[in-house]
Amino acid sequence: MKLNIALLAGDGIGPEVIDQAVKVSNAVAAKYHHEINWKPALTGAAAIDAVGEPYPDETHAICANSDAVLFGAIGHPRFDNDPSATVRPEQGLLKMRQKLGLFANVRPTFTFPSLIEKSPLKKERIEGTDLIILRELTGGIYFGERNRKDDGNTAFDTMTYERFEIERLARKGFEMAKKRSKKLCCVDKANVLESSRLWRETVQAMEKEYPEVAVSYEFVDAVAMRLVQWPKAYDVMITANLFGDILTDEASVISGSMGLMPSSSVGSEVSLYEPIHGSYPQAAGKDIANPLATVLSAAMLFEDFNLNEEAAAIRAVVNKSLAEGIVTEDLAEDAKAYKTSEVGDWLAANL
Ligand code: IPM
Ligand code: MN
Repeated sequence: MKLNIALLAGDGIGPEVIDQAVKVSNAVAAKYHHEINWKPALTGAAAIDAVGEPYPDETHAICANSDAVLFGAIGHPRFDNDPSATVRPEQGLLKMRQKLGLFANVRPTFTFPSLIEKSPLKKERIEGTDLIILRELTGGIYFGERNRKDDGNTAFDTMTYERFEIERLARKGFEMAKKRSKKLCCVDKANVLESSRLWRETVQAMEKEYPEVAVSYEFVDAVAMRLVQWPKAYDVMITANLFGDILTDEASVISGSMGLMPSSSVGSEVSLYEPIHGSYPQAAGKDIANPLATVLSAAMLFEDFNLNEEAAAIRAVVNKSLAEGIVTEDLAEDAKAYKTSEVGDWLAANL
């Protein structure tokens, strides 16, 4: 297969982890006789510095005309510490999600056999966890009306959802659940929020189309607790943008490290693959960040093109690296820590 992949390294550790995913993807391509044409483009603070804009039109054109987008991370402390900055790297990420129509963010949570003992959570609680949080990505409070009033002393952000936005996300959730263990959980705050009541109403109305799927409705605060207490109770979860942002960081604890969790963002056209972690600026340029979340995001990419053997090969070599202790410092504990680039080289060589 011939694939054109837009390559958006972004900020902080983005370029380093992306490099490793490229090494591994190229090794897979060589092994299975595919041709990958990488198309690098600017995003985030790097793009602001170069052209004054975090998601330039040129970058959008490259993404829109590719078969897929592989993305690193966005964000820079120089903007975090300056609330008055009007152009921010994160705006690039949000604009990209919106312009590419990536309304569903697929964030799987699973455990790695060799890391179970290292989790801060008890082994018997997490072993065998296999759930997917399907986060709405182009609506809700991230994109609602926001402003300041009263001379800047009052601020508001609004969570707005339209029925069609909930419906298309929920449909993906039902379809996924159908292929898995047929359980769908709608996570909301319907005891307080009107937008959550619209979520519930919309999902309830769809239930009859999917009689084989058992749907439950749970409040997000309770889910925050149950997710780490009984992760195995969940299969596919659908939720609003902000709730999903928070719950997926929480869920990463189940697998052992933020540095391990991949994601895909899908819509109607091109899909994007990215680690759920951020730009981790403290580690930028030090060759110490864990590249596995990005490498596993590349596995999700291959899978979406029905290259299942290729995806399985990546996951297998990642598991092998974990079992053999070829890991970066976040997972090394007292053992030797490998560099980001060494992990990438090892993975590519052992494919
Ligand atoms: C994520 C990130 C982003 C988000 C930030 C960087 C804007 O935390 O992808 O989860 O909040 O969506
Ligand atoms: Mn987040």
